[in-house]
Amino acid sequence: MKKKKLQKVVVQGLGYVGAATMAAISLAMNEGNKPKYKIIGLDLNSKLGRNRINLLNKGFFPFKSSDKKMLKAIKKASKEERLFATYDTICLKDAYAVIVNIPLDINFKNNEPYVNFTTFKKAIETIAKNISQTCLVLVETTVPPGTCEKVIMPILEKFFIRRNLDKNKIRLAHSYERVMPGPQYIDSIINNWRVYSANNKKAENFCKRFLQSFLNTSDFPLTKLSSMTSSETAKIMENSYRSTNIAFIEEWARFSEKIGINCYEVIEAIRKRPTHNNIRVPGFGVGGYCLTKDPYFGKVSAVQLFKNKNLKFPFSEKSLKTNRAMPLENLKLLKVHINSLKKKKILVLGAAYRSEVDDLRNTPSEVFIDELIKSKANVFVHDPYVKVWKNYNILNKFPISNRFEIIILAVAHNFYRKLNFLKWLNKNNKIVLDANNIIKEKIRKELISRGNTIITTGRGDK
Ligand SMILES: NC(=O)c1ccc[n+]([C@@H]2O[C@H](COP(=O)([O-])OP(=O)(O)OC[C@H]3O[C@@H](n4cnc5c(N)ncnc54)[C@H](O)[C@@H]3O)[C@@H](O)[C@H]2O)c1
Repeated sequence: MKKKKLQKVVVQGLGYVGAATMAAISLAMNEGNKPKYKIIGLDLNSKLGRNRINLLNKGFFPFKSSDKKMLKAIKKASKEERLFATYDTICLKDAYAVIVNIPLDINFKNNEPYVNFTTFKKAIETIAKNISQTCLVLVETTVPPGTCEKVIMPILEKFFIRRNLDKNKIRLAHSYERVMPGPQYIDSIINNWRVYSANNKKAENFCKRFLQSFLNTSDFPLTKLSSMTSSETAKIMENSYRSTNIAFIEEWARFSEKIGINCYEVIEAIRKRPTHNNIRVPGFGVGGYCLTKDPYFGKVSAVQLFKNKNLKFPFSEKSLKTNRAMPLENLKLLKVHINSLKKKKILVLGAAYRSEVDDLRNTPSEVFIDELIKSKANVFVHDPYVKVWKNYNILNKFPISNRFEIIILAVAHNFYRKLNFLKWLNKNNKIVLDANNIIKEKIRKELISRGNTIITTGRGDK
């Protein structure tokens, strides 16, 4: 019997989102429970791009992940020869859909945020030069609102005209990822709500059908917005809200530490009220690629795309500064308990920007460690997910505690949550900064009674 040809989906950009998207799409099945798509990952012919391409072509997910479902999906689809990666843009030629998952960075000029669209535009041009008239272009990259209509659409139109294709048939859509790298990585794509919008009714229906084909839209229905700019705004507002919510807790963390109460206990009480149940908790800081830049995109959109210099985003901008300073607030808290850090042997547990990931981009640990080094401390770093880190030596084995005077619980990886602190801290004369309140109450009390100093961010209680 003749084998049915699979529809080809190209994912442009094989980073934390693109590679995971490839895995999610590989699980899409048609009615006969047979795979629906052939997935091609497209990256650049750069060292980073080639590395990701090679790993995917060997059936490996290009990042360290604790999500077995993700690793299995890539392996299986690769083995069945329906998942590949390449830097050859020819793969775009007969694509049914192409998903844009490339980065778009923030820059600063005179302290004002701006975006240089040059490389982003080049990536869109690659698509515009190669796709067929019927291909759906689905943008998932986080962009300043207005980008699809004012930056991407003109490029697609220009090349469609040049290639004698009908520009009225362009199918452009925007739908953003809420992916959460970590143990539920692939599920955070498939079993999650999605927002989408497109340039016309046909594109909208195409986008809807495509999303329905690989997402669990029965349990997590799609939300259609009336314009791509609204969909882009939803992403930026959503992340600005999150950033502001996290930053808001900072002043209450400091207040609690100073007046001697437990901010976590207070937050638990507030969370009982359903309208307030997502109030955030004190912590070590905010890192990663998204929450450290997305709240600037409102301003960028207003100034660069809508030519309006008067719109202000004081909450979003303040939240970014507050969150960036969080590791330094933690350092101040540590310094209350120690006169000088000079020559102190300090172990920092956790390098990644959040628990259960290997992503080091804008990690709060870096800000904290740099300050420790400036204070001439001897710093050692461990992270179960990270084996190499450009400027710092990462311990490749979890060390015994005897070698250190100060221990920083920077990242709430499960590895540290599960640690038997009573056994591990056997010498009992340590200063421990628990930046995420991971040491259980009973253990905390016992450790203090044995002569350790336990400092917890957001807690001033004795
Ligand atoms: N990381 C997250 O958890 C997350 C969550 C939601 C949304 N996002 C957004 O998704 C987008 C991608 O983020 P990421 O973390 O996956 O980025 P990343 O930096 O990990 O990966 C981006 C990849 O795109 C490749 N690339 C750049 N230009 C290209 C081109 N012209 N053609 C092909 N490949 C190209 C790069 O080489 C890189 O491999 C960003 O807009 C980000 O804000 C990220």
